[in-house]
Amino acid sequence: MAKTADYDLVVIGSGPGGYTAAIRAAQLGMKVACVEKEPKLGGTCLRVGCIPSKTLLETTEKFVTARDRFGRIGITCQNVAMDLPVLMARKDKVVDTLTTGIAGLFKKNKVERITGTAAFTGPKTIKVTSAAGEKSIAAEKFLIATGSVPIELPNLKFDGRKIIHSDHAIALDRVPEKMVVIGAGAIGLELSSVWSRLGAKVTVLEIYHTTLPGADEEMSKLMEKSLREQGITFHFTSQATGIKEDKSGLKVRFVGKDAKPGAVETELPADVVLVAVGRKAYTGGLNLAAAGVQTDSRGRITINHAFQTSAADIFAIGDVVAGPMLAHKAEEEGVAAVELMAGKAGHVNYDTIPLVVYTAPELAWVGKTQEELTTQGVKFRIGKFRFTANARALCMDEAHGMVKILADEYSDRVLGVHILGPQASSLISEAVMAMVMGASSEDIARTCHAHPSLPEAIREAALAVDGRAINS
Ligand code: NAI
Repeated sequence: MAKTADYDLVVIGSGPGGYTAAIRAAQLGMKVACVEKEPKLGGTCLRVGCIPSKTLLETTEKFVTARDRFGRIGITCQNVAMDLPVLMARKDKVVDTLTTGIAGLFKKNKVERITGTAAFTGPKTIKVTSAAGEKSIAAEKFLIATGSVPIELPNLKFDGRKIIHSDHAIALDRVPEKMVVIGAGAIGLELSSVWSRLGAKVTVLEIYHTTLPGADEEMSKLMEKSLREQGITFHFTSQATGIKEDKSGLKVRFVGKDAKPGAVETELPADVVLVAVGRKAYTGGLNLAAAGVQTDSRGRITINHAFQTSAADIFAIGDVVAGPMLAHKAEEEGVAAVELMAGKAGHVNYDTIPLVVYTAPELAWVGKTQEELTTQGVKFRIGKFRFTANARALCMDEAHGMVKILADEYSDRVLGVHILGPQASSLISEAVMAMVMGASSEDIARTCHAHPSLPEAIREAALAVDGRAINS
């Protein structure tokens, strides 16, 4: 006889997607458990991703600002130095505060936390293995939110010391003299910034012809220029092919545009090599076959519009399914999935998911790039406004970058907003809201913005769509 269900819903994985879904499901009246294999809740984002990296980015940015730029605004500082152990300890404390916070939220919302590794034993049952032994659990429904892991290159196997991925790069105990970063995506650029600010000589190898394939190219190039000015070296159209170690140390081999003329491969010396060439869906040990859950050619769990897998009572969200690997995308999907399970109108607007790279200046965007609109044959108008003409940015001594708005030529509807500048990660919310509400550039232009403030740059870019920016 089939075991009666222990829970209405078991969520596997406690990252932003999983823990948010578990809490929302409990709010909707479900009896919920969340299985997590790590001792800390919060998944990649909280433990080893977004949160620790943003702590390092924020702090190192303050450090270089105090060291290099305070003088010119009249603040005298001597012997400005970064204490690496203090930096790392505070980063760990921020992570602990947030992961402990999730445990508190689980208690408050009556989500049961189960520590161990889940594996399906059938479409309605899992086995959870931990140091305490094995436990069999039955549930009416399961939600897989197991996230992703770094991709390894065949000739550059991770050893955690010299050839590292992002989990290691947020926890180095000394500043490497020479660091080679493979991949100029979000992870490569953010962690290049951290270690370059701390004194490492950073060289980035990237297959694509500029930073961030997929971003608006004009903005990528502006960002590239700014990062070069900060001392980071880039080799574009260049592919890392392997590594060798001899008496003089590690050498990364690469081929491409910047390789030495006539050379089969060029070598770059390195103390540490960070491989940041993307992440892949993580379904390790889940035994999906026992439950009849199918994956695609890239190992991602296939789902329908309701986040339902090929097994009727098993759902999946976040990095383990298709789409951008972003914490906020996973959160949206987690909430929508459980709301749909509860018969409500869960929905994710995939056209208005913001993307942010937390370099200095930050790059944030939502909607289409200029290249995408051109390829799709959409007729559009462009409005741009530089932060050099924004009063608040000048007051802050942060007048770098620009806002670029792309609006439909006929309807004026906003199709994409791209911001390179101070606090772009926060500024983009206005653009997201505008796009969610179906705003035109005229709507933004006619919205009163506080003066002086950074968001005025968005309004001026909206005015510029119609050729009537005031301050440029
Ligand atoms: P990514 O896919 O964003 O970038 C990887 C880069 O590596 C690409 O530019 C690619 O062209 C390049 N590449 C691949 N193979 C190469 C080779 N052999 N040699 C040289 N270059 C090579 O992946 P990334 O940065 O590792 O990030 C993984 C995921 O995590 C992404 O989906 C990203 O969006 C997400 N993420 C988002 C963050 C944010 O929103 N701020 C921060 C960190 C990660």
